[in-house]
Amino acid sequence: MYKKTTTLIIAVPMLLALGACSDQKEKIPPATSAKPAKAPVYVADRWFSAEQAVRGGVLFQKNCAECHKADASGDPNWKQTNAEGKLPPPPLNGTGHAWHHPMPMLQQIVRNGGIPMGGSMPAFKEKLTTEQINDILAWVQSHWPDKIYITWMQINQRKS
Ligand code: HEC
Repeated sequence: MYKKTTTLIIAVPMLLALGACSDQKEKIPPATSAKPAKAPVYVADRWFSAEQAVRGGVLFQKNCAECHKADASGDPNWKQTNAEGKLPPPPLNGTGHAWHHPMPMLQQIVRNGGIPMGGSMPAFKEKLTTEQINDILAWVQSHWPDKIYITWMQINQRKS
């Protein structure tokens, strides 16, 4: 037990440094803190500032909350297609799978929406600047517990 813990602790900075290494995929490090994050507690460790996340939160409430909910929890039935054959808005708070997407993909989803791919999310490229989209994604990611965020960062470093 002790040995395993030590290995994992050493593995965390290594994984972060060697994010491009593809055989690390399955070795997801444990959360660095004992309790799950309550946003935006871990903002200081993230790529974004607290100010950015706060700005993004305001924009999210204006542009995204009607579908993804004010707390980004999405529709509880987000995995099941509705009567029109469309998927309901998924959670963005770390319980869905938004964290599978590297940053350029997340930006692209918000810019172009899901309609070109048969979905129903509207495009925001005419409405929001790149900076505003990044601020919104910062707020979204401020809801992700460390474990999810660290995994996303590895995916992000590999693919961006
Ligand atoms: C009209 C409802 C609606 C609005 C408004 C909306 N979305 Fe979506 N969003 C969806 C739906 C539905 C999906 C699932 C894909 C699809 O059908 O287009 C989705 C998917 C996503 C995804 C992909 C999640 C995943 O797990 O792959 C992201 C990221 C996202 N939305 C972010 C946003 C952000 C940020 C905003 C505000 C700028 C926003 N959405 C506004 C309905 C909406």
